[in-house]
Order: sequence, then C-alpha cells, then structure tokens
Amino acid sequence: MPAEAIVNIGMLATMHDGEGVMGVLRDAAVVVDGGRIAWVGPSTAAPAADTVTDAGGAAVIPGFVDSHTHAVFGGDRTAEFDARMSGAKYTAGGIRSTVAATRAASTEELAERTQALLTEALRQGTTTAEIKSGYGLDVATERRLLEVAARFTDEVTFLGAHVVAPEMADRRGEYVDLVAGTMLEAAAPLSRWIDVFCEEGAFDVEETRRILAAGRDAGLGLRLHANQLTMSGAAALGVEMGAASIDHCTFLSDADVDALAGSDTVATFVPGAEFSTRQPYPRIERLRDAGVTWAIASDCNPGSSYTTSMPFCIALAVRDMGMTPGEAVRAATLGGAQALRREDVGRIAVGARADLVMLDAPDPVQLSYRPGVPLVDRVWRDGIETR
Ligand code: NIG
Ligand code: FE
Repeated sequence: MPAEAIVNIGMLATMHDGEGVMGVLRDAAVVVDGGRIAWVGPSTAAPAADTVTDAGGAAVIPGFVDSHTHAVFGGDRTAEFDARMSGAKYTAGGIRSTVAATRAASTEELAERTQALLTEALRQGTTTAEIKSGYGLDVATERRLLEVAARFTDEVTFLGAHVVAPEMADRRGEYVDLVAGTMLEAAAPLSRWIDVFCEEGAFDVEETRRILAAGRDAGLGLRLHANQLTMSGAAALGVEMGAASIDHCTFLSDADVDALAGSDTVATFVPGAEFSTRQPYPRIERLRDAGVTWAIASDCNPGSSYTTSMPFCIALAVRDMGMTPGEAVRAATLGGAQALRREDVGRIAVGARADLVMLDAPDPVQLSYRPGVPLVDRVWRDGIETR
C-alpha cells in the first residue's frame, strides 16, 4: 500500500497530543503507511510520500468510534415512534416486536440491513462500530445475529439478556438459566463482550450479576445497559464487576457518579435515545467535576434510537447535556475507544490505525455549531479512502 501524506490540515484534532480537550495541532500533516499513522507533525515538515492530499485548511479528526449499536435486526418501528411522539410512553416491551421480525428474517436479509446501516454510518464518519445481538432471544437466532455482527466488526456483544423471550415470559428463572448456560456457550466463541439490559421490565440487579458473572467466566468482557429509565443500582453493580462501560446513564445517583469516578469504567451516553423516547437528557456537570471518563454512542436500534449519525449525537450532547463542542467530539472518538478498551483507534498518533475524517469545515467545533449539515467530507479507514 503506497504511503499517503495529508498536508495543509488547518486543525488536526489528535485527541492525543496538542492543545485543549481535542489535542489540536494547527497547520499539520499526517502520513499514512500500511494502514497505520506513520508520522504526525507540522505541514511544512511533512516527509515525502507516494501521494500527497491537500486538505486546503480543513479540519481532520479521528474516525468516530461508535461503542454501542444494535445494528442487526428485522423490521422497523415507525408506527411506535409516531405514537410516542403523540404522547405514548417508551417501555422495554417494544423490543418484542423487533424480536418477532428478526426471527422471521433470513440471515442474508439481516446481513444486508446491517451492511446498509454500517455504510450509512461510515459516510457519516464512523470507522469502528460495536454491534450487539439481542433481538433473537433463542439460541439459534442469537447465534445467527452474532454471526452477522462478526462479519462486520471485531466488537461483537452478546445481549441474550435484552428482555425475557416472549415464549418464556412466565418462566423468567429458566430464561436466565438459558442465557447464562446454553445460549452463552453458543455465543461466547463469536463474541468479545457480554451485555445485560438491567431495568424494570428487563432484568433485575441479581439476575444481571449472575449473567455477567457467567459471561466473565466464559472469557467475555462486561458492558451494561443501565440507569436508562430508572435509578436502579445497575451502574454501581457494573462498576463493582469491572465493566468496561455503563451505557445510557440517563439517571445517575451521586453514589453512581462517585463509583464511576474511582474506576476504569466509562460512562457511555446515548443521546439519540433521549431524543427518540422524549426522556430527559442526562447532564454531565457532576461527571466532569468528579473526573469520570465518558463516551457518546449512537445506540442505533429500531426502537429507542434509529440513527447511525455520530455528528447528530454530538450536537445533542452539546445542546442538551452540557458538553462543550470539543468534549463531545472527544467523547465520540477517544471516549468510544476507551469504552471498548481499544488503544489503536479514536486518536491520531503514530502507530494508531489510520482511521481519519476530513471535515468540510475549518474547526471540529462546527460539528455542533452547524447541526444537521453533512460536514463529513472524506473518510479513511485502515489508511484507505472510502467512497
Ligand atoms: O438501548 N435499552 C435497551 N435496548 C435498546 C432499545 C431496544 C428497543 O427498544 O428495541 C436501547 O435503548
Ligand atoms: Fe442499547
């Protein structure tokens, strides 16, 4: 693969080295070689390369790292969204309608949908995406979903504990046994992570503890859907068990914030879900004061957040959660990488993967200053420009 120098970058947001929360270098250049970043520095000092791309003063940021998606599913829930915007309340129960549509879909139909969603996401700058199962809820379908996810990403998450399978609604103990037993055995070889939706209408804290412990014993890393609809004690459990990330965090107690602050667990916000469920947005001031690491993800799913757009989520986090524009861009890049415990993505540093986004803007702050405008101009993944 020939080396490429991208020169004349007005603002390079490295998230690693440089000024402010985005680690900005001005009038910078990046050299990409063999899919990795080979050199970063002043544009005037850029070494020779096989091809030279002139950024014309535009801003360049790392590709977005979307650490939370449910991008394998059948059907959609347009009517449910429409009813909610007319006043109906969001509950975990809608998941079951997607489960029915997902079970009915062929593996190839599911894979085509996932491909389309990831292509849409890539055009908006997402170069790394985690994908969960969770709309199968039986051994065979969960396995199919994980197989589809594994075609597209290394960040595959087993979410058999999304809700209790509808056919086992009155046998929840048996369902928990199944998830922590046979289903996990089938899922573990395909997955890096295990996740549980710990919430009223889904799984309680004790069930969650049991399922996460079984996942950990099977060699999986832990993540958690927690404190989305209620202040449940789930966030504290996730921290106690060493989860990489607690996702949603819409309702956090002071004790949850303190627990997160003293830990390696990232708080991942998914403001697309607050948008699409008309829930109140969480605020980040307490987390900032306590020194908690946070991320932003899309939560792309057909029920609570049917968006693949990290720029949209960045704009929401700035407008409604109290993040500064720079904090939000960092949360969508480096934050996502931290939530996935990855050091090779989410930053622009020598040796990192050459996942880069050139904006049609001089400053990454414009991602929230100009909301809804397609500012993602060019995207490189593994050093290759995608189109
Ligand atoms: O992350 N919270 C649980 N799961 C999804 C929603 C799933 C659905 O409504 O289909 C979420 O918001
Ligand atoms: Fe989710």
